[in-house]
Amino acid sequence: MNLRSSASCFAILALALSACSNQESAEQPLTTPDDESAVSEEEMSDAAIEAAEEENEAVFRAPSERPVDPFTYSNYNDIRVTHAAFDLDILFDEKVLDGSVTLDLDYLNVNADKLILDANDLSIASIEARTNGDWTEAVYTMGADDPVKGSALEIALPDKADQVRIVYRTSNEAEGLQWLSPEQTAGKEHPFLFSQFQPLYARTMGPLQDTPAVRMTYSAKISTPPELIAVMSAAQDPDGERDGEYSFDMPQPIPAYLLAIAVGDFGFKAINDHIGVYAEDYILDASAAEFADTPQMEEAIDELYGPYRWGRYDMIVLPPSFPFGGMENPRLSFLTPTLIAGDKSLTNVVAHELAHSWSGNLITNATWRDAWLNEGFTSYVENRVMEALYGKDRAVMERALDLENLRRTISEADRPELTALKMPEDLGHPDDAFSQVSYAGGMFFLKFLEERFGRDTFDVFLRNYFDHFAFQSITTEDFLAYFEDNLWAQNKNAVTKEELDAWIYEPGLPSTAESPTSDAFDRVALQQAAWITGDLAATEVETANWSTHEWLHFINTLPDGLTSEQFLALDDAFDLSRIQNAEIASAWYLKAIEGGYERAFGPLDEFLVRVGRGKFIYRLYATLIENDKRDWAAEVYARARPGYHPIAQRRIDAIFAE
Ligand code: BES
Ligand code: ZN
Repeated sequence: MNLRSSASCFAILALALSACSNQESAEQPLTTPDDESAVSEEEMSDAAIEAAEEENEAVFRAPSERPVDPFTYSNYNDIRVTHAAFDLDILFDEKVLDGSVTLDLDYLNVNADKLILDANDLSIASIEARTNGDWTEAVYTMGADDPVKGSALEIALPDKADQVRIVYRTSNEAEGLQWLSPEQTAGKEHPFLFSQFQPLYARTMGPLQDTPAVRMTYSAKISTPPELIAVMSAAQDPDGERDGEYSFDMPQPIPAYLLAIAVGDFGFKAINDHIGVYAEDYILDASAAEFADTPQMEEAIDELYGPYRWGRYDMIVLPPSFPFGGMENPRLSFLTPTLIAGDKSLTNVVAHELAHSWSGNLITNATWRDAWLNEGFTSYVENRVMEALYGKDRAVMERALDLENLRRTISEADRPELTALKMPEDLGHPDDAFSQVSYAGGMFFLKFLEERFGRDTFDVFLRNYFDHFAFQSITTEDFLAYFEDNLWAQNKNAVTKEELDAWIYEPGLPSTAESPTSDAFDRVALQQAAWITGDLAATEVETANWSTHEWLHFINTLPDGLTSEQFLALDDAFDLSRIQNAEIASAWYLKAIEGGYERAFGPLDEFLVRVGRGKFIYRLYATLIENDKRDWAAEVYARARPGYHPIAQRRIDAIFAE
């Protein structure tokens, strides 16, 4: 079906409801060739379409075509994998997962005779298909390897096979898995394995339809060395026996990128009856204390946007090579140990990952071009949580810092198309969609809507949105159509089409973005100015009550051209080069690199070797290279690289290759 425009799709909505539907959910199957109910464009005269168009002035209509995810090989519009059952041995010596996955199939196109899956670096031993209860061997081919997408695994399906079973093993270089030797853990006695599958590395763990457009349930039987514990993004018993045999069940449909596993020697500490934290012993109590407010965070979101729908919410604090601040694996967020600052100052990341249980996990972007639906909504909810728990001042400071970063991202963008919320069709890599534009840009767009429609109205709208699209994968256009019907239609004057387009489709920061003003930051700025002019000595700057945010604002806004005496004075007064808070430390190191302040380089070296969190280290390496420190950076990287996650290795290799 190829309707002329999105508006005409709306116009014939009443006649062709199913034909206009484009939600990527198993509940709303594609119109198949057998489906007589759909009315095609050919069956409507142009005049009829125009007449219908005139009656309906809808502006944002979800397009009729089903969205295409260019980062999957899978033929997911013909066949859907609805359930994956894994049976895997975790082989630490070889650094591979070895076993099988059994996939349940649902035919959207009754004539489909092959199943194409995403695979990356997988060795296939055999494939069988089940028809009418009988298993037979299936013919398959593995396509050429693409550096981003991996390979297409094409399986010929015997007549209406309803299951396939693939016996396989992963590569010891699988990009989605990091294998740590005992020496790389805090306990030093046992190895550690953890996954990171967003955005397209689930295919390095098993052959799957690795696209956010497809949701499936999953189960897993995992065998590990008996002294280790395994956890997954699924239902599991935190008090279960520790014997090396673990079973998991995820009864709610999730996209493949939310599969997750961690195996190692770690403990568990409950925070309340359904929230707790896993971590290596050295950091378990500190983690439970740092994240003690998680139950209140959950209550705050429940109250605003409806119930948490995933059963337990646990967290696991991973080794420092985890390349992200956090990852929203359902029921079990993965977190970096750099959040453990001792004062709960970095727990917005927990609020963020928890918020993904609504935005991202409950409603998922159907393609990575729509990443702001995940990250922008989540950043907005995160900020609302921070406001509810800690008050407006902290929420405003966090938004002000986000705005500083967003402005920088926009000004440094190589391609202007990457600075609008809807990402361009020709994204080189899904990672390109995860800049501050999707995060802070998306948040400020929703702040703009909140302000124009009023908070109470907007809150009700969002609550209904989460309910309406729960467990579906949607596009920006689906959101806009829903917004138009359920919010804009009731108050047409609140925003104009031009204002909306500026946010969604036009590059740059729209003029309608709020400018968060923080009194605390204004006071920091005054003191900073007095210090720079020499009216105030570094030791006289009143920092005693400064929060992490005030420190970050102070450091980020330090002007270019500081003298080495000025760097020294700050360092002597506040020991910034050795500060334990990783956010403050990395902000300081950036300034030190730009200012050529050599005394920070020893601690910076240690930091780069110890911490693998991409947000910190990518920019530090890039800034070193830009500031004539390539050789120094390369020498540190040579030592640090073996400890970094494969994802970080690839990113930093690319920074050096630029
Ligand atoms: N889902 C992201 C992490 C991610 C993004 C992994 C893209 C792979 C590809 C996660 O929710 C996230 O946004 N983490 C942030 C924390 C946040 C507070 C901005 C991070 O890791 O810094
Ligand atoms: Zn996120």
